[in-house]
Amino acid sequence: MSDPFYQLQWLRLDHGLTQQSQTELWICQLHCAVPSIAGNKWLKLKYHIQQIQQHNKTGILSFGGAFSNHLLALAAAGQHFGFSTVGVVRSHQPDPANPTLQQCRQFGMQLQFVSPELYQTKTTALTLAELQQQYPDYLIVPEGGTSATAVQGVAELPLAATPNGPADLLCCASASGGTIAGLIAGSKGTPVLGIAVVKDASLSQKISALLPAPADQWHWQLQPELTNRAYGKFTADTLHTCLELATQQIYTEPVYTGKALHTLLQLLAQGELAQYRRIAFFHTGGLQGLDGLRYRSLISEAQYQQLRFGG
Ligand SMILES: Cc1ncc(COP(=O)(O)O)c(C=O)c1O
Repeated sequence: MSDPFYQLQWLRLDHGLTQQSQTELWICQLHCAVPSIAGNKWLKLKYHIQQIQQHNKTGILSFGGAFSNHLLALAAAGQHFGFSTVGVVRSHQPDPANPTLQQCRQFGMQLQFVSPELYQTKTTALTLAELQQQYPDYLIVPEGGTSATAVQGVAELPLAATPNGPADLLCCASASGGTIAGLIAGSKGTPVLGIAVVKDASLSQKISALLPAPADQWHWQLQPELTNRAYGKFTADTLHTCLELATQQIYTEPVYTGKALHTLLQLLAQGELAQYRRIAFFHTGGLQGLDGLRYRSLISEAQYQQLRFGG
């Protein structure tokens, strides 16, 4: 496995609200040799892949929703590095036209569908043991790729090192908590703000559990996204922010990065981040999710084109 397998690109977001608050907002994008593994995906997967290579395992089994960025990244990594992949998908019925799952299959991933009710139990210790029996030579990686191994990979990202000097706040979208835990672990004292794009009352606890001890040495905070939408749902305002960012060649989707940046801009407008002069935001990828939004008519073709390619 070659590393650097990725390249970082820094973009400074120029917005009325950043000007008004006199705050520099830097977006750190992680481009990967295999595009589907861009963003946080490579950092979360790299040491899992190293583990299976070192232990001569057949592949990796993991979990996700029907439009999961993580499953697609895993499938692409499997094809690129030559290991097998199994995706346990939270979905009642296999939909052959689902663009994410179509790509997973094209990358060679074997898919197992489980109803959302059963899916909850699939991640309990008992059923994990059953899955391990069924796939004895596979490494089982939790949903979202989040584990202590993923934290180790994300901690390597030099997010505080913006082109204009050290950031005084690091920020990212947070769902299963692995990415923010990695940023915290690698932050060397710079505070970290996670913007929760899921409604999960236990998210803070999950993040704490992923952090290397002692927990009280870390400076971080979790902020619920401010539009108060369920995971996967978004407002016209969030979409508008994504479309606005696309005009500056900052491409986002409204479920993770766009939703988090929308909240970050609102926090700047409210003066909540007045003590910070230079913020570094980790762009966690996930642009393939736009294909699924278009497929479900949650965005129009014109919006899709603008969000994906600008204009
Ligand atoms: C594009 C994108 N951004 C952010 C996240 C959230 O990362 P985490 O689940 O590690 O909190 C995810 C989920 O993995 C994602 O797909």
